[in-house]
Amino acid sequence: MVLKNMITGWLLLATALGVKAQTAGLDNVKLNFSLDGNGQPVYTVDYKNNPIILPSKLGFTLEDDSLFYKGFKVLGTEENVTDETWQTVWGEEKNIRNHYRQLTVHLQQQRHPFRLLDIEFRVFADGVGFRYVFPKQGGLKYFVVTGERTQFRLTGDHKTFWVPGDYDTNEYSYTTGKFSAIDNKEMVEKSTDIAVRTAPDRYAVQTPLMMKSDNGLYINIHEAALIGFPAMMLHADKADYTLTAHLVPDAVGNKAYLHAPFFTPWRTVIVSDKATGILSSRIILNLNEPSRIANTSWIKPMKFVGVWWEMQAGKSTWSYSDYADSLSTNGLPIPNGRHGANTANVKRYIDFASKNGIDAVLVEGWNTGWEDWFGNWKENVFDFVTPYRDFDLPGIMAYAKSKGVQMIMHNETSGSATNYERRLDSAYRFMNQFGYPAVKTGYVGKIIPRGEHHDGQWMVDHYLRVAEKAAQHQVMVDMHEPVRPTGLQRTWPNWVASEAARGNEYNAFSKGNRPEHETILPFTRLIGGPMDYTPGIFKLRNFSYDTSRRVHTTLCKQLALYVTLYSPLQMAADYPEHYEAHLDAFQFIRDVPLTWDESKVLEAEPGDYLTIARKQGAKWFIGAVTDEQARKSDIKLDFLEKGKKYKATVYADGENADWYLNPESFTIKTIDVDYKSTLRLKLAPGGGAAVSLVPVN
Ligand code: NOJ
Ligand code: CA
Repeated sequence: MVLKNMITGWLLLATALGVKAQTAGLDNVKLNFSLDGNGQPVYTVDYKNNPIILPSKLGFTLEDDSLFYKGFKVLGTEENVTDETWQTVWGEEKNIRNHYRQLTVHLQQQRHPFRLLDIEFRVFADGVGFRYVFPKQGGLKYFVVTGERTQFRLTGDHKTFWVPGDYDTNEYSYTTGKFSAIDNKEMVEKSTDIAVRTAPDRYAVQTPLMMKSDNGLYINIHEAALIGFPAMMLHADKADYTLTAHLVPDAVGNKAYLHAPFFTPWRTVIVSDKATGILSSRIILNLNEPSRIANTSWIKPMKFVGVWWEMQAGKSTWSYSDYADSLSTNGLPIPNGRHGANTANVKRYIDFASKNGIDAVLVEGWNTGWEDWFGNWKENVFDFVTPYRDFDLPGIMAYAKSKGVQMIMHNETSGSATNYERRLDSAYRFMNQFGYPAVKTGYVGKIIPRGEHHDGQWMVDHYLRVAEKAAQHQVMVDMHEPVRPTGLQRTWPNWVASEAARGNEYNAFSKGNRPEHETILPFTRLIGGPMDYTPGIFKLRNFSYDTSRRVHTTLCKQLALYVTLYSPLQMAADYPEHYEAHLDAFQFIRDVPLTWDESKVLEAEPGDYLTIARKQGAKWFIGAVTDEQARKSDIKLDFLEKGKKYKATVYADGENADWYLNPESFTIKTIDVDYKSTLRLKLAPGGGAAVSLVPVN
């Protein structure tokens, strides 16, 4: 980290304090800060002497100062080094090292009222984070941000994995192509398979944005700790390969209403010369605050089944009604009188969970409101406490308890955050009263307050209010259709998962997700936190009366996703009868843990493949997935404990498996291995492999 004009001063100080010794390992990444001739803050980032971010500008426009990005002078700087290790409540690793150098730059505008702005930079071994701080000051109290001018000037026409910078949904397929080809016009206009789309800037994309340079460097841009501020989209300027922050506006076009002192979320750049380095980075978590929940003993990772895929597939309905639900999410006609959440059907799922080592059952469509919920800007649709008359709630809770199974609550808000907020207390008291440990929420449709967006400041605050309210009631929460995550699961570990991307459900109700989708998600959406992707579909075609619907993977790839798409809350999304047909393969879902001591990303290439090994206790589990290309992979097991023998159970695609032609073909074999062994995995087109490694005594 170098501060221009103060280089000598800063480096000397660093040495004098013995800081150099503490920074071993941090030297890969260099950050340079300076003010340009107009007094505008500028930074650059290098990685192993390769430029990553060329001189890029920083700053804001405010309602009362359209030039709050220039005319600054440096009042002073501070720097320090942190090297600490902290424990996760759950996660991909038990212990996480947080090692960085921090430079704080104190700026002052050189005109009345001489406003102050600080910028904090943190340099890690695998990237940087920086944020703006508006200090408490006389000349800036309550203020309105009209724009953020943060830039990321790239070095060339990188390969980019992107989704449109939509203010209301992130449920898109990724487009892979050159930076210069970014253009979301067609996609936003033509797509019809989701209800809400708002992407007025043709060249705006969402983060986490994954890129690869021509010289083989992997770069990921995102943000961490999104609190009290709108989400940052990025406007792509092809002329000079520059990304500029594009904050999601509110109903009247403003971006953020702030009160100094305030600090913004961190803007992050993760960089590595290996794709695996992006996946093992912990920058996002490290830039979030420690847990705000003191006693976390009630937060327990869970596997669940649910009355859910049957609605997605069109077999049953959310609503209890006597007429066709022609406005179902998939737009397909649904037969009358097929309410999924009826007591007998729910008990079937409870029985399956109880017999097969699954912790919980989710039931959607249990409460009144679904008869007329879909569409935009409907207020007071749900009250979150009134069951349909064929759902015997107390009876079901008692039955589940007798079977040792927990129930997961479902609160669809139909986008009306106002209605949900009014009813939060009663909704969470209700969960406590009946013993629900977790809730899945949802925000389908346009947001109320009208004109607000899913990713704007108002909703960002709302999601946090919900997480906090849930924590007060010791309830875990899984949010669907929220803003994409930014590592807040460290601070609110009861916020166990979010959807916030295109999930497996699209395979049920639309043309679906291309086989490459799950090889991109870990590099994009999951950089921010766990995803409720709902893996585990075993019947991959002919599950819908629309026979063109199919899941674009093999069965073994569905198994591998439990390892490659990390979440402490994992659904086994298919029907009990589809699992009962393959209980041998289901054994992997039973066995695979939901929280890990250690994770190793063995190989990866965004859009193509990835293989991850994770450890819990003495056991290891491996997941490998590929895109539409078949793949052979030789996995060295040198991470196993020396001198120990392990029994490897390998769930592999069958000889002629193929996501399209033969998706349900698989083999299971067991072999003895040790740390010297190499495991050859053969992945079918759209395929995967899952392996458990258990020590033998
Ligand atoms: C969309 C969610 O992603 C899905 O899981 C849920 O079933 C529906 N909304 C209804 O709430
Ligand atoms: Ca969704």
